[in-house]
Amino acid sequence: MDEINHQHGVVVAIANQKGGVGKSTTAINLGAGLAMGGERVLLIDTDPQANATSGLGFRRGDFGHTIYEVLVGDLPIEEAIEPTRVKDLFLVPSSIDLAGAEIELVSRFSRERQLARGLAGAPSRYDTVIIDCPPSLGLITVNALSAADEVLIPIQCEYYALEGLTQLLKNIALIQTNLNPRLKIEGVILTMYSRRTRLSADVVEQVRGHFGEVAYETLIPRTVRLAEAPSYGEPIEAFDPGSKGARAYRELAAEFRRRHGRA
Ligand SMILES: Nc1ncnc2c1ncn2[C@@H]1O[C@H](COP(=O)(O)OP(=O)(O)O)[C@@H](O)[C@H]1O
Ligand SMILES: [Mg+2]
Repeated sequence: MDEINHQHGVVVAIANQKGGVGKSTTAINLGAGLAMGGERVLLIDTDPQANATSGLGFRRGDFGHTIYEVLVGDLPIEEAIEPTRVKDLFLVPSSIDLAGAEIELVSRFSRERQLARGLAGAPSRYDTVIIDCPPSLGLITVNALSAADEVLIPIQCEYYALEGLTQLLKNIALIQTNLNPRLKIEGVILTMYSRRTRLSADVVEQVRGHFGEVAYETLIPRTVRLAEAPSYGEPIEAFDPGSKGARAYRELAAEFRRRHGRA
């Protein structure tokens, strides 16, 4: 195993192979929250659906290079980094081209380490690097988990919330053993919490019972404003700073900083 070191404060992958659990929403709003709190943050979109890219207001033609070229074409990551409308928040965009990358990567030497290599070569330092993962456990997610120091797992407060979690945890353990011994599970984030339903409370109880301190205290509520913000290309803090969702993601960013000794 070749150890690839990066110079960044912390590299966090946001992963869960289930779609629609709040990965991209958390990547955007935690990233923006940390940047607005004075950190230098890089968000790397590794989902071919590019929700973090569009959610930050980027359309096709707004950017030159994408993560696809970093992963498959050995493009230096710096050439793909774009400033966003949020000061100190930078983005490596994704696009649908990435859909073929899982297959194109298969035949590459060190195919699991392309992102780790890319990040190690980034010329400037970021306090936090956030990797928004696709909804699968394929090679792209393996690349993200190999490049990361930590993984954050969003869990939706819904039926079947815990389904698939065993598989995810098994994959994380495999990566720790075979590719990245430094990887740790930093936290589980409960998303789309609804105060009015018994079900939400049950999921919170189950997750806290199972994960203990690993579960974040901050609960992300289900709110329409959080679902609307991406179509305006803005993090919730810019779109509607007075909303419940904005408050929740501010709290989440503060909790993240505390847990990293940066309070
Ligand atoms: N807390 C929330 N309340 C309401 N809608 C949300 C919330 N978080 C995410 N959404 C919406 O749910 C959908 C899935 O969220 P997303 O972050 O894209 O999940 P993932 O990246 O895990 O697929 C999106 O349409 C998003 O806008
Ligand atoms: Mg997503």
